[in-house]
Parts: sequence; C-alpha cells; structure tokens
Amino acid sequence: MDTLLLNNIKDVRHNIENWKKDGLKIGLVPTMGALHNGHASLIKKAKEMCDKVVVSVFVNPIQFGPNEDFDKYPRTIENDKKVCEEIGADIIFAPSPKEMYGENKKLSNIDLTFVCPPYSLVDCLCGKSRPGHFDGVATVVLKLFNIVTPDYAFFGLKDAQQLFILKNMVKDLNLNLTIIPCPIVREDDGLALSSRNTYLSAEERKQALTISASLRKIESLYKQGITDVSTLFDTALSILDKNTELEYLEFRDYDNFEKVSNVKNNTLIAIAVRVGKTRLIDNIIV
Ligand code: PAJ
Repeated sequence: MDTLLLNNIKDVRHNIENWKKDGLKIGLVPTMGALHNGHASLIKKAKEMCDKVVVSVFVNPIQFGPNEDFDKYPRTIENDKKVCEEIGADIIFAPSPKEMYGENKKLSNIDLTFVCPPYSLVDCLCGKSRPGHFDGVATVVLKLFNIVTPDYAFFGLKDAQQLFILKNMVKDLNLNLTIIPCPIVREDDGLALSSRNTYLSAEERKQALTISASLRKIESLYKQGITDVSTLFDTALSILDKNTELEYLEFRDYDNFEKVSNVKNNTLIAIAVRVGKTRLIDNIIV
C-alpha cells in the first residue's frame, strides 16, 4: 500500500478533513523516525484500532538540550517510509523545523508558547538530567494533536515518564482523544529497542544487556516476595556492568508517580544508564 509522505501541515489537514467527513477513526503515532520494531508495534496497534493511521517523523529540536545528540540523531526517512508502507500507514508527516516552528524564532519560551507539564512529574527521572526536555515533548505532541486531531494516539511504555506526562496533559487540558499505551519491544537477548542503540559498539552492546538483566532480577526477586527498595536497588546495582554509569534507578507508583519504599503492584522501576557516550533508558512495571 502507498503511504503518502507529506511535509506540510496544510496537506495533512486537507486529508484529515476528508477522512473526518467520512466519519473515519484516526490514529496518530508520533515518532522521531529511525523506525525499528518498537515503533512498528505502535503503528500495527494503530492499524488494528483505527481506519486511518498517521505516523509523524520529526526530530524535535526543542526537546534536545544544548549538549545532546540533536545533530547526530539518526535520520532514515527512506527506510521509515518502507516500514510505514509494509504496515499500511496512510500518511507519514515529516515536517521541517521551520514548518513546525516558523522562521526567525529562538526555539525557547522567549519566542514560543510552551506547554509546561507539572514540576512534580518533570523534576525527576529523565527530567532531572534533561531540563526542559518534557516541555519540548509536551509542546510538540500538543501541536501534533492539533494538526492531526486523532481519536487515538499511541505511545510506548519504553518512555514511561513521557507517557505518564502526556496522559496528564490530555486530562489537564481536556484534549478530546485517548492515549493508548503499548508494551516495550525488546531484542531476543532483552535489550529494549531504541534508535540510540545504533550508537553502541559491540562491546558497549554487551554492557548494555546488563540494564535489562538488572530489571529482570528485580522482577524475579519481587515475585519471590522481596519488596524492600534498598535491597532491590543494591542487587540491581551488582548486576550492572562496572563500565557503565548509573544515572538513576527509581521505584515509583505508576498510578500517581510518587516514590515508594516498598514495591507493590503497578510500581514503575525505571533506569537510565550511560554506556560509553550513549544514554539508555529502560523500565518494568510489576
Ligand atoms: P521516539 O523515541 O522516536 O519514540 C516514538 C514512540 O515509540 C514513543 O512513544 C516511544 O515510547 C516508542 N518506542 C520507542 N522504543 C520502543 C520500544 N522498544 N518498544 C515500544 N515502544 C517504543 O518518544 C519520542 O520519539 C518523542 O519524544 C516524541 C513522543 C515523538 C515527541 O517528539
């Protein structure tokens, strides 16, 4: 099936208007491209639930910090188009930064209206080391919602904090759509798929495997009845490769995002680790 590759907001809106006239259900899968099987699982879920599927591919400058990998982030639009075509997505929306944010603007709240998620949700986990990141995510996602006006939007649990923040945005701002969370897709050896895995050398990839291994260990200990967070933390730390650098390993209630000292059902166990120069995240919800 042909997937339309569109770069302009106007063209996307034109297609959406026609679909809405026909009463079709629309699904949106926001991505930054370099599509892998994790993204593919979201697009497939969207195909199952919706009549029409839009995949956005946009490396969003306002969610990257000054020393982050915006310039080197992989851009593979030809392959992304193939992935979308194989699954049967209807539109890839791949705007330029200029199309999204206009010209001659400082991409900060000096010149731009931002969505600022609550402090309690951004001043922790990934938000601690990436100030402004979730403002950039919430802002671009709200813009995409306004452009595509989807009935359903699909996000991966791989980015559990992002998903939690976006669900809150939908509730707090009365957005008329439903967010569908999708499970983490992993390699056979446990490594969570990520566009940033392409940065890893063979040696670093081996080291990275200890991230999911440490989460699996926590899960198995929890199933054996161990709930004490400091015990679980120490065990996980002993499994992590010594050449990696732990940024955080946190245990939070996935109903309200509060820290827990004893694990119970629906606890998010989230980890961020630097492997060489690459920052990787992973999590489980028990
Ligand atoms: P990106 O990292 O490209 O991820 C796009 C979507 O794919 C996110 O919802 C993410 O959680 C999901 N995803 C990534 N790896 C996954 C995996 N292994 N299994 C399941 N889902 C996975 O997240 C972003 O882009 C951006 O912040 C975005 C929301 C597009 C805003 O710019």
